[in-house]
Amino acid sequence: MRDDDLALNTRGPADERIEPPASFVEQANVSGADVAEFEHPEDWDRAAALLEWTTPYDAVFDEETMEWFPGGGLNATGSCLDRHLDRRKNQRALVWEGQRGETRTYTYLELYREVNAVAAALRSLGVGEDDVVTLHLPVVPELPVVMLACARIGAPHAVVFAGYSADALAERMNTAGSAVLFTCDGYYRRGDAVSSLTRTETACVDVEGDVTTVVVDRLGSDYTLGDEDYQYGALRDAHAGETVDPVERAATDDLFYSYTSGTTGAPKRVTHTTGGYLAYAAWTSHAVLDVKPRDTYWCTADIGWITGHSYVVYGPLALGTTVLLQEGGTDFPSRRTPWELIERHAVDVFYTSPTAIRTFMKWGPEYPERYDRSSLRLLGTVGEPISPQAWQWFYEHVGGGDCPVVDTWWQTETGGHLLATLPGVHDMKPGAAGMALPGVSAAVVGEDGTPVGPGRGGYLVIDTPWPGMARELSTGERWAGRTEEEAPPLSAFEWAYPTGDGAFVDEDGYVTILGRVDDVLNVSGHRLGTMEIESAIASVDGVAEAAVVDVDHGGSRGLFAYVSPTDNSPDADSLAAAIGAAVENAIGRFARPDEVVVTAELPKTSSGKIVRRLLTDIANGEEPGDTSALRNPEVVGEIESSIFGD
Ligand code: WTA
Repeated sequence: MRDDDLALNTRGPADERIEPPASFVEQANVSGADVAEFEHPEDWDRAAALLEWTTPYDAVFDEETMEWFPGGGLNATGSCLDRHLDRRKNQRALVWEGQRGETRTYTYLELYREVNAVAAALRSLGVGEDDVVTLHLPVVPELPVVMLACARIGAPHAVVFAGYSADALAERMNTAGSAVLFTCDGYYRRGDAVSSLTRTETACVDVEGDVTTVVVDRLGSDYTLGDEDYQYGALRDAHAGETVDPVERAATDDLFYSYTSGTTGAPKRVTHTTGGYLAYAAWTSHAVLDVKPRDTYWCTADIGWITGHSYVVYGPLALGTTVLLQEGGTDFPSRRTPWELIERHAVDVFYTSPTAIRTFMKWGPEYPERYDRSSLRLLGTVGEPISPQAWQWFYEHVGGGDCPVVDTWWQTETGGHLLATLPGVHDMKPGAAGMALPGVSAAVVGEDGTPVGPGRGGYLVIDTPWPGMARELSTGERWAGRTEEEAPPLSAFEWAYPTGDGAFVDEDGYVTILGRVDDVLNVSGHRLGTMEIESAIASVDGVAEAAVVDVDHGGSRGLFAYVSPTDNSPDADSLAAAIGAAVENAIGRFARPDEVVVTAELPKTSSGKIVRRLLTDIANGEEPGDTSALRNPEVVGEIESSIFGD
C-alpha cells in the first residue's frame, strides 16, 4: 500500500465484538484489575519482576539516556534456565519434531547441561564477552542451544534466517564484524536433503578475516573439515559436563542482533538489550499469550526471525514453559500435521500467522475437526493483517469458539507485542489488531504529523518508549529508517517512533493495520525491502531498471517485478530466469519474484520517479489510478496489455 492510498482505506471500526470466554477469564494471567492503572514508566517494574536479577537496577527508566533498568545486572540464561532447576528440572523445556519424523526432547536440566557444554566450547574457541557469533541454522534444537550458550558468556548472537543466500550471510557477518559461524551440513526441504556446505564455504570466502565455523551434522553427510572448522557434536562432547557461570551483563548490554529489511538496500541490523528486551518478551508472553509453566506452547515462527527469538526462545523459556519446535512448517509432511501435533502434545497455546491460517482454511475445517483440540486455551496470530473472515475461521474451527484469539501487532524493532487485546480483559474485534497494551501509547497521524480522528487512515506511531524497544530507537534512529527530514513531522509528540505502517483507530481505541506505507514489503510474513530486491535485479546483464511491488493472490501476498531491458528485443524468458537466479543469490529463494514483467519503460513522474503505486494496481488486476502526472502515461496501457493481453 502506498501513502496516497491511506485515505482510501479509511474504514469504520470492525463490526463485531466478541467477549472472552468466562472460563478463560477466570484463569487468565492478567485480569482487568491488574492493569486498571498502569503508570508509565514505573509500572514496567512488573515486567522486570518476571526475571532473575543479580544486581538490582537503580531506576526503571532513564528519560535522559532512554535506557531501561539502568544499573541492573543479569544474565538471560539465569532467567531462562538456572532458576528453573529448583522446581522444574525434569519438566520438558524443548520438544522438537524433525522433518524425518524424529522427536528430541530436552528437560530444563538437560537443556541447562547442553547450554553449559556449548558455552564452554565457545570459550575454548576464544569467544569472549561482546564477540558476535553468527548462527545460520534451520529450526533444530542446536539453534536455541547456541543462542543461550552465547547469552551465557555475554557474546551477542546474530541469527541469519536459514533461507538467506551465501552473499546475504557474508554481508551480515561483515556488518557485525563476526568471526564465528554456527551452521549445518544441510537441511531438509519438504523431506528432501539439501546440502548447504557450498553455501557456507562461499560465504566464508567473502567474509573479511578468518572465520571459525562449527558445523551441525543435520544430514549426516560426509565432509572434510577445514583447519578452522569444528564438528558441533564433537565439540560439544569434548566439553560435556563442564559448567560455565553465567556472565553478569548490564541490563543495557546487547543480548543479540536481528537482521531485517529497511528502506535502504543494506540489511537493517536491530539491537536488543539484555534487561529491557528480556523483561518485555517475558511480560508479553505472560500477559498477551497467557503462557504458564505447565503449558505446552507452540509458536510456528522460524527462530531466524524476531518472532522466534521473542516467542519461541526467550519469552516462553523465561516463564519456564514447555516449548514445541517443529522443523517442517505447518504444511509438511501433510495437512494433518498441525492438528496431529496439537493432539499428540496437548498444546495449550498455538501462535501462528495469517498465511498459515489462510492455508488451513483452503484445506477445510474437516482437518482440524478430526483431531482432539480440547487442550487449546488460546490462539494467536502475527505478521500481517488478518481478515475478519480468517479470524472467525480460526476462532471457530480451531478454537471451537472457546479460545480467545489474540492478534498481535509488533515489529523486529519493537522486541515484543505493542498492540493486542489482553485475552482475559478485552473484547476481541475480528480484523482489528487491538489496543495499545498497558503502558504503551500509539497514535495515528496524518501527513502533518498530528493525530487524525477515529476511522481516518494515517501513519501509526508509538509515542511512549517501552522496555522492548530496540537500542537504535533510543540512540537516534527513531525514524524507522528514514532521515529526520523524510519522516513525517511529529512535533505533536515529545518522542515518537514512526512504525512505517498505515492504520486507523476506532472510537474504542482498537487499531486496524492497513499495511506498510514505506518501501518495505511484507510477503507471507517475510519482510523485504524493495531496494534490496531491485538492486539485485539491476545487477543482471540486460536490465536497465527494475521496480518490485507486492501483489495480493486472493489473500496471500507475492512479489511482482517490472523490468525495463537495455536491449529492445530481449529474450524475456531467459531474462526472467537470470533475474530469479540473481535474487536467489543476493538474498535467498524466499525473495524470488513470482512474476517478472518485461516492459520497454516504467511509469515515471516528470521528475523521473517510478510510480510504484500504478504498478501495484496493475499487478493486483485493479484499475490503475490517476496517470495524468506521468511523463509517459502510455506505458500503463502497454504494461497491462503485455500482462493481460489486449
Ligand atoms: C506487519 C514481525 C498486521 C507490520 C513481528 C509490521 C502486522 C511488520 C502484524 C513487522 C499484525 C506484524 N497485523 N500487520 N498483527 N504483525 N505486522 O519486523 O506491517 O518481521 O510493520 O516483525 O509486519 O515485521 P517484522
